[in-house]
Amino acid sequence: MTKIAVWCRHDGDNLIGIGPKIPWHIASDFKRFRKITEGENLVVGEKTYESFPNRTLPNRNIYVLTLTKGYEVSDKTRHFVAGDIKDFAEFEGDLYICGGATIYKLFMSSGDSLLPDVIVDSRYCGKVDSLEGKRIDITPCIEVMEKRYQKVSPDYEQENVYTSLWVKRGDFVDQAVLKKLMNMISVQY
Ligand SMILES: NC(=O)c1ccc[n+]([C@@H]2O[C@H](COP(=O)([O-])OP(=O)(O)OC[C@H]3O[C@@H](n4cnc5c(N)ncnc54)[C@H](OP(=O)(O)O)[C@@H]3O)[C@@H](O)[C@H]2O)c1
Repeated sequence: MTKIAVWCRHDGDNLIGIGPKIPWHIASDFKRFRKITEGENLVVGEKTYESFPNRTLPNRNIYVLTLTKGYEVSDKTRHFVAGDIKDFAEFEGDLYICGGATIYKLFMSSGDSLLPDVIVDSRYCGKVDSLEGKRIDITPCIEVMEKRYQKVSPDYEQENVYTSLWVKRGDFVDQAVLKKLMNMISVQY
């Protein structure tokens, strides 16, 4: 299994959300995210899952991490409930870790066994919408990334979003996955 974290953070403060929303709307960033994750297995936190339109993302399997007993997903054929990140220790296939902050932090602070192998790091350098709600950032994850990962691509820019790939230092990474991600971040959407 290859574990891939995918995020888009605001440059400078590592903000990824305000309340339930992402405080920017960049069409090419959504398209890149869709392209990277289509047909794949995703893990998200309950709050992020609830923020998806109709609580779904088409053509993807979604694992929802929640502590809510009896939590009901919107599509029982493709969405699944998980209560503990340890449930993914023996996961077969690739796993895309797609937020929000709680879930990124759980994986990024999990020690070696569940630490993502690859990070698709997108930095948005534009203006943030002023929204009501709690400001949510992933600074602890960026600190781990800068310490334990190495950047293996240039920054690819579109619409003020700079995207690059980072891999865990000293570990083997599936070259087919890396190649796929490299192709997907290097094109314009
Ligand atoms: N910019 C980006 O790339 C990006 C990507 C995704 C999301 N976001 C943003 O991130 C924000 C949401 O982040 P968030 O941190 O508030 O919520 P979240 O990570 O989406 O979900 C948090 C939920 O995870 C569950 N949880 C917490 N610890 C757990 C554990 N140890 N085991 C199992 N489940 C656990 C909790 O469920 P219970 O409530 O049941 O306890 C909690 O409500 C939103 O603003 C969203 O738009 C941004």
